[in-house]
Order: sequence, then C-alpha cells, then structure tokens
Amino acid sequence: MNILASSMKIRPRNRTSKRKERSPLTFRQPEEKEALVVTLNRMGYMLSQPEKYNQAFIDFAPFAPGPVLDIGAAYGLATIPALEKGAFVIANDLDERHLKILKNKLPPSLRKRLMLKPGRMPNGLEFEENSLGAVLASRVLNFIAPEELLPSFEKIFRWLRPGGKFFFLGATPYMGNFQRFIPLYLKRKKEGQKWPGLLENIPFYAPNRACDLPQFIHLLDEDDLRQLSTKVGLIIEEMSYSPAIEEHPQEMKFDGREQIGFIAFKPEEVL
Ligand SMILES: C[S@@+](CC[C@H](N)C(=O)[O-])C[C@H]1O[C@@H](n2cnc3c(N)ncnc32)[C@H](O)[C@@H]1O
Repeated sequence: MNILASSMKIRPRNRTSKRKERSPLTFRQPEEKEALVVTLNRMGYMLSQPEKYNQAFIDFAPFAPGPVLDIGAAYGLATIPALEKGAFVIANDLDERHLKILKNKLPPSLRKRLMLKPGRMPNGLEFEENSLGAVLASRVLNFIAPEELLPSFEKIFRWLRPGGKFFFLGATPYMGNFQRFIPLYLKRKKEGQKWPGLLENIPFYAPNRACDLPQFIHLLDEDDLRQLSTKVGLIIEEMSYSPAIEEHPQEMKFDGREQIGFIAFKPEEVL
C-alpha cells in the first residue's frame, strides 16, 4: 500500500448524528521507522526526536522576545515540545495535511498557543517586521532553490525582533545517502563555483530513497551558511556539524558531518 493511502483513515458516516459532519478523510502520521517519519509530500523525513539545534530552539522558545516560528514543522518535532514548555508557536509547512496531523496530536490546552500558518517559504509566508522572537528552519531550506535562499534569510532577519534568534539545521554534502555526489561537490568547491552542493538528480545519486524525496536537494556547507547569514546581518553564535544518530539507517551515515546547524541572533542595533 502506498504511504498516502496507508496514512488515510476512512471514517464511516454516522447518519444518526446531528453534529456537523466532519471530513471523511483524516490524515494520520505515518509510523516511525529508524528514528524517521516519512512526509506525505515526498519532502524527506521528520526526525523522531529533536537533535541539538532543535533542542536549542525548544529551550529558547519560552524565553524568546515574541512568538516563535517553526518553518517546515511537519508533524511537530520541535513545535510540540516548544508548546509544552510554554511558548507561543506558529507552525508553518508547505503541506497543510502535516499541520492538521500536528494539531490533532495536541490537547486543547496546548492548541491555544498554537497558530497554523500553511505556506511555501519564502514567497508564501509573511510576518510583520520585528514581530518574532525566534525562528527554526530544521532540514527544510535544503528543499528550496538556491536563488530563494538569500530572500529567505532576508525575510527571517526582518521578521525577528532584536535579540531574537534563528536556529538552523540542514543536510550537508556529507549526508551518507548522497555519497556518490561528494566528488562533484569537491570539484565545484575547488573551482570556486557558487552553490557547489546543488544536487539536481536525486534518483541517480540515491535511487533507493528517491521515492520519498523531490527531484533535487540543495546540500549546504559552512561557507554557504556563513555568507548568507553575514549578508543579511545575523550574528552567528555557534555553528557545528550535527551527526546522524545511531538509530538512523546505515546508508544515511557518513563521518559525523551529515548535517550542519547554527544559532544566530539579530543584533539590537542593525550594523
Ligand atoms: C525533511 S522535513 C523536516 C521536518 C522537521 N522540520 C525536521 O527537522 O525533522 C521537511 C518539511 O518541510 C516542508 N517544506 C518543504 N519545503 C518547504 C517550504 N518551501 N516552505 C515550507 N515548508 C516546506 C515539508 O512539507 C516537510 O514537512
């Protein structure tokens, strides 16, 4: 059975009920497998547990100088623990089904502090300037085109209040699934090409994962992220690799450089 079909629960109609009829289709979160939960829209997997940079966002969220935004929240990896800690969270995702599943997982007390904001980053998402206390983009900006990265960073910077923080996590060219791509990445890097990590043919490089992924993925490295952050005025507090975890599938693992994360803040006075 395909993932979409297996994730849909068919609700029988209750003809005697006088209550307003619900949609007969309710989406369910797919089952976790090897510490990953597949997305419903071929945008990879949600982690089953927060890693270091997700956790840093979760810990900061209740003390952030404003509501916090989780871009590409999927089924709530970071949104749910941040709500549990008392934060006001805006959960965004390209796929509204993910957000509905997220909301359905919550008790009414936590729903009160949750706002759902479906839309595609960067062009389908807007907030007022200086309105957010923190932003998380965990393993989502790998799925946007290179020319959309700077506009995304500019928007995040504009939305943050001074003192607000941006938490980032993304796949690097050393993600184990894409090992065959490393020589091309290193060649482009040596030649000084812009965006050396743009992998445009996932079915070629990772045929056994292609069914869960789009056609391209933009694998990001430290230089890309430092340049983008500096250009928009973010100050990086910390940046490091974040390895695949023990439970992840063997083919995802490489040498500890599989993912990269950083924490940056918007200074009080724009430099
Ligand atoms: C790989 S999953 C990551 C989920 C979770 N943040 C994590 O770190 O495990 C990517 C999620 O981002 C969403 N997504 C992809 N591109 C997006 C975009 N341009 N704007 C908003 N959400 C997007 C997908 O629908 C999917 O739910």
